[in-house]
Formats: sequence, structure tokens, C-alpha cells
Amino acid sequence: MSSVTLKQVGRTYRLDAIEVPALIDINLEIEPDRFTVISGPSGSGKTTLLNLIGCIDRPNRGEISVAGQSVQTLSDDALSDFRARNIGYIFQNFNLLPVLTAFENVEYPLLLARVAAGERRRRVLELLDAVGLADKTKNLPGQLSGGQRQRVAIARALATSPQLILADEPTANLDSHTGSAIIELMRKMQREHHVSFVFSSHDPKVLAEADDAVLIQDGRIAATERRGATGGAL
Ligand SMILES: Nc1ncnc2c1ncn2[C@@H]1O[C@H](COP(=O)(O)OP(=O)(O)OP(=O)(O)O)[C@@H](O)[C@H]1O
Ligand SMILES: [Mg+2]
Repeated sequence: MSSVTLKQVGRTYRLDAIEVPALIDINLEIEPDRFTVISGPSGSGKTTLLNLIGCIDRPNRGEISVAGQSVQTLSDDALSDFRARNIGYIFQNFNLLPVLTAFENVEYPLLLARVAAGERRRRVLELLDAVGLADKTKNLPGQLSGGQRQRVAIARALATSPQLILADEPTANLDSHTGSAIIELMRKMQREHHVSFVFSSHDPKVLAEADDAVLIQDGRIAATERRGATGGAL
């Protein structure tokens, strides 16, 4: 089963009286346990697509299913529950809560999921250790470097063991050396946790690491390439 399926999906933004068709006729399957990159020029629709896949936004037409669940049938409350259980997010600007320590930021989604204290602590320390931050658990985001903050965001995205992790230009605010280290870490985490990672990126290094690549132009899928184990270009 696919991790994510989109059928004839369209999303139009309305701004004053003008309609902006941001995505048109999107048909896409994202397979489980893969590292997928969405690339394309600025304004082509990458963020719009990730927001739909992440169930942060709803399409105007078409069907979306994530982890076997048809999302258009869910109410807003059911959708936010579904998101909390199944999807992790990594944003370009890290999006950590500034008043919480690294430990507390990673713990936060586990609190929302009502995981017991002992199990929370074990899981947070294990993940912070896995991203190389065992000695920074008490630091606030303002006391961490950009790369370290993105490592906290990766640990937080993995905390509830979601099926799918989405990242919108996760290396855009990092220098190239730090960006490469973050991509390598995400790759490693993807392999170890068998989660589907879906990224948007302009970065050729991210593209080179991908199992699958989707190119978007003017709101349409211009090309899809599968390079990994399930093989063969499309
Ligand atoms: N809230 C909105 N209201 C109106 N138009 C929007 C809105 N959000 C995005 N758009 C338009 O939809 C199109 C796609 O935008 P989107 O943010 O998905 O592009 P992108 O590929 O992520 O670009 P970038 O690489 O610059 O981040 C653009 O033409 C943009 O101007
Ligand atoms: Mg964008």
C-alpha cells in the first residue's frame, strides 16, 4: 500500500476576486519507507503540495489518502488527531517553541499523545542521542546553532513514530556544510525508522540523496523518477 495517494487533486487560492490555480490535476503515489524529494521553481506549488499531503490544508477537488486513510472524509477535529498520530513535520525555520528546552520540544508531541512520563523520558533521550545532542538537552532553541535546532526538529518529528515525515526546504536556512550533515542525518533516520520522508528542496545534494523525485512546474507534475530499490524510471 502507498503511504500517500493523490488522485486528480486541485488547489486554487482565491485572493480578492482573483483565483490562483496553485495545483492542477495532481496524481501521485508516495511509497512507504522511502526518501522522496519534491523539486521545482519558486512558486511552482511545492509548499501547497506538502500542506495537502500533511493534512494542514484541504484540496478544492480530488482525493487524498494518507497511510490508508481517506482524509477528505475526516472532520477538522478528526483530522488534527490523525495528524498528531501519523505525521511529523520539519519546517524551514525550525519552528521550535522558544521557551522550551531541546528536551521539552521533543517531548511535546509525546505529551499531546498522552505517553506516560517514564516512556517519554526514555524516548526523548534516545532520540536526542541519535541526532547527536545528548549533551544539549537543557538548551533553549536560542542557545543552539541553526544545525542543532534542525536536529531537535528531526528528533521531534520522529518522537511519536509517525508513518510520514514532511519537510519543507529543511536545509534552506543552513550553510551548505551544515545542510549536508542534516540531509545525511535525515537519510540515516529514514533508514533506521522505516518512515516515509517527503521533502521539498532546491538543493542538488538533497536531490542526489532521494529514492524518488517529483518535479513540479506551474502547479503540475512535470516528471517523476523512481531510483531506489523498487527500481526503474517512470
Ligand atoms: N495563501 C495564498 N493565497 C494566494 N495565493 C497563494 C497562497 N499561497 C501560495 N499562493 C500561490 O500559489 C502558488 C504556489 O505557491 P507555493 O508556496 O506552493 O510555491 P513553492 O513551490 O513552495 O515556492 P517556493 O519555492 O518559493 O517556496 C504561487 O503562485 C503562490 O503565489
Ligand atoms: Mg515553498
